[in-house]
Parts: sequence; structure tokens; C-alpha cells
Amino acid sequence: MRILAIDTSCDDSCVAILETESFELLADVVQSHTETMQPFGGVVPELASREHLKALPIALEKALEISRLLLRNIDWIVVTHRPGLIGALLVGVSFAKSLAYALSKPFTGLSHIEAHLFSPFLALTEGQSPPPLPWIVLVVSGGHTELFEVQKDFAKDFSYVWLGGTLDDAAGEAFDKIGKLIGLKYPAGPLIDAWVREAATPELRSAFAFPRATTPGLSFSFSGLKTAVALVAERPDFASQSRLPLVASAQEAILDGLCAKIQIARERFPHHSLVVTGGVACNSRLREKLTDAHFPKPRHCTDNAAMVAILAAIRHREGQLTASPWNLSAASR
Ligand code: KG4
Ligand code: ZN
Repeated sequence: MRILAIDTSCDDSCVAILETESFELLADVVQSHTETMQPFGGVVPELASREHLKALPIALEKALEISRLLLRNIDWIVVTHRPGLIGALLVGVSFAKSLAYALSKPFTGLSHIEAHLFSPFLALTEGQSPPPLPWIVLVVSGGHTELFEVQKDFAKDFSYVWLGGTLDDAAGEAFDKIGKLIGLKYPAGPLIDAWVREAATPELRSAFAFPRATTPGLSFSFSGLKTAVALVAERPDFASQSRLPLVASAQEAILDGLCAKIQIARERFPHHSLVVTGGVACNSRLREKLTDAHFPKPRHCTDNAAMVAILAAIRHREGQLTASPWNLSAASR
């Protein structure tokens, strides 16, 4: 069976096609809206919806071209219908329903978070195995900073438990807002990562003593850090040569905030494998700090439809992929 998967939860129009028996990933297309969002320094939800309207048919055409398939070769359409930007999700869900209706094929709405949790199973598309279950998973992106316990039978019963999340900003949002303060383009996360990797010494990473949040248990907080960085960057005597030490120290504070909570989770679940995914999981310094963690490939850490397709394929294998009703809607949470 060939599954066509769609994800429009934020500002990437994503389409993937996967063959369920062989787990072959036949196409994996991401049309990013970054250029449209850059003048605004972040994602404008209404603009993301409009961009999906333009980019989604193009992403579908590309996916069909890459896989050398025709629409009639598709057997099932799956789409993430929650959580995310509501307008963006509505475009994806409407698109998926229209396709399914026109092709007389079933369609299923799936959870974007569950798809991120399933991204390590994309190893199967390359003939490799995912890390041994159970897992602790940190999903860390521009919209999420959340810890989950993924249980032993996850691939059969899809059971996982939410352990904790951010009380305010997501870690990726902190990267982007801190970058914006010193004039970096959106999204600043990858720019800060590359700049610090290439130019910062260990001393520069501790040049500014930024606070580490002391939130209880497995909850995170990054808004205090953002304010602390703004108080420095907006001082009239702030010199442009201090920008590198500033972002190097801020990156270190964000990553320390993530690692401190991972450490608590690991003490609670000492025998679980650690998985880190979401856009911030592309960060090279984070990968350096967590040498024994499993990180999906960078293109499968950021938003993509391949992770939605593998979730659907495994649900299908377990007899748990059921068609959604035509009145399925989208939900921001
Ligand atoms: O998962 P994603 O593509 O979209 C959502 O936010 O859902 O993640 C994008 C976020 C942005 O905030 C971006 O700045 C951050 O991930 N990001 C990074 C890196 N690559 C992407 N942050 C730090 N270092 C990176 N290398
Ligand atoms: Zn995501």
C-alpha cells in the first residue's frame, strides 16, 4: 500500500509518500515559507495559511514526480490535524479530504506530536533499527519543548506519557527571539548554531552569566532568559563585537536548561534510551553535549511528512490505521 502523508502544522508545506510493506520512502518534500516570514522576523499565522494554499499543490506535484507515481497509485491519505497553527492545519486537512474524496480513498487525521515521537522509526526506511524501546523523548522546536516517556510497546499500542513542558516560550522561539534582538534573520537558531560553532571559544560561551531557570520537576522556562539577554542587548553602550559572546552565552544557557531536565528524566528512567527531536535537535552543540542520545536525521527533526507517513505505516501494520470521518476538523491543541 502507498500512503500519501501531509503536514501543514506550522510554516512548512510537507508531503511524503511511503510504501507500507517495504517501508520505502518514495518521496519526502518540504516547501518552506521562510522567505515569506523573514521580513516579519517570525511566523505570521495568517500568512502561513495563505502560503500553504500556494505551496501544498506544488509539494504534491514534486512528490509525485520524485516517486514516479500518479495520484491513482495512492491508497490512503493521512494528514496531521493537531496540534499547530489552526489556519495552517485547516488548509492541510481540507486538501487531504478533497484528495481523498476525489480519489475515493480513505483519509486519516493524525497527531503532529505523535508523528515527531515516531520519527526514530524512519530508520526503518534505511534498513536500520530505531533505538531500543522504551524511550525518553524531548521534542524541542519553535513551537514545542516537551518531554515524553514512550513506553515499551509503543510500536504496538502507541502508548506514551507526557512528562512535562515549557511554562512559557519554546526553546526554538528563544533562539529566534534572541537572534532577532541582535539583528539576525529568522529563523535565528541555525545561524546562531553555525556562528558559535565556527567562531566561539569555550570562554566566549560563558562570557555572560545568563540565568538558568529553576522551574519545578520536568517543566522548562525560557522567557526569563530572553528578558535577561534583552536587558544586555538593548543597553546604549552594547558594542557590536559583544554580539558573538552574547549569543554564545545565550545558546549555552538554553541548552543547559534542556540538559538539566533531561538529566532529571534520566534519573527517573535510568534504563530508557534518550531521543531528541524537533528543529532544535539539529543544534550541533546540543548533539555534542548529548553524545549517547539518538537524534533523527536533521531533515527529520524539523517538520516533515515522512514522520507522519511512518506513523501511519506502523499503525497500518498493527491494524490500527482507521479512516477518519468526513467531519474531522483541525485543533490547535
Ligand atoms: O521543528 P521545526 O522545523 O518547526 C517548528 O517550530 O515546529 O523547528 C524550527 C525551530 C526554529 O525555532 C529554529 O530556529 C530551530 O528550530 N532550529 C535550531 C536549529 N535548527 C533549527 N535551533 C538551534 N540550532 C539549530 N541548528
Ligand atoms: Zn513540529
